[in-house]
Amino acid sequence: MDNRPIGVFDSGLGGLTVVKALRKILPNESILYFGDTARLPYGVKSEELVKQYSIQITKFLIQKDAKMIVVACNTATAMALKTLKNKFNNIPIMGVIEPGSKQAILNTKKKKIGVIGTIATINSNAYEKSIKGKDIKVDIISKACPLFVSFVEEGLFKGAAINEIAKHYLLSFNNKVDTLILGCTHYPLLKEVIFKNTQNIELIDSASSVANDTYKKLEKFRLLSGQDNVGSLNCYVTDLPMRFKELGNIFLGENIEDLHLINDF
Ligand code: DGL
Repeated sequence: MDNRPIGVFDSGLGGLTVVKALRKILPNESILYFGDTARLPYGVKSEELVKQYSIQITKFLIQKDAKMIVVACNTATAMALKTLKNKFNNIPIMGVIEPGSKQAILNTKKKKIGVIGTIATINSNAYEKSIKGKDIKVDIISKACPLFVSFVEEGLFKGAAINEIAKHYLLSFNNKVDTLILGCTHYPLLKEVIFKNTQNIELIDSASSVANDTYKKLEKFRLLSGQDNVGSLNCYVTDLPMRFKELGNIFLGENIEDLHLINDF
């Protein structure tokens, strides 16, 4: 039994979709969330820089006594997970790509999977490697959707503009895949508009698989919190953009109570 918190991080608010799933499945776990809002987006940055940011944040979370790290960002998972695992090898570290790939393989009937994500995630081929490593026969079509993150961070989940952009990005998936991985933790907020612009395609939001795998990992390492522990949530951000709380609450599905601004990053 270990009541220390789980450290979770993303480039911004997107990772709160993973926190929401974690809090549902693991209500006794305390969570430290780090959103690197000052340096978002990661999806257009170089691998070296994303690695540097991810190392810095992981160190911060470990200093705050995190017992495990969940990288709730596809871009950071694609670019930095291996480095983090090598560098911090005395603590379990999990990304979001493996759980999403597993879920998509279980879901596809035609063995045809689509992946959408940031430019960095798509260019890294991380999903392709992960899926092909589990089932070589699956065909994969992927596409970067760089404008989606800005719309989500603006709180523009619906409307004519995002609908046109979604149509433009998603057209090539229709009749080609039966499963589409939302390979960016911001995209679950656009589920409705993505669904509207795809036909007969099931959307995979990996948040719940990430939460299930986190549970299994905590259990395996005997790190689960006690049943009498009330899971707290502390959020750290590197900038407080306008409407942060309002949007954060939408991502999280509950009010963000403990919010701390980190100035020295
Ligand atoms: N939430 C991040 C991800 O899952 C993307 C946002 C960004 O570009 O920073 O990849």
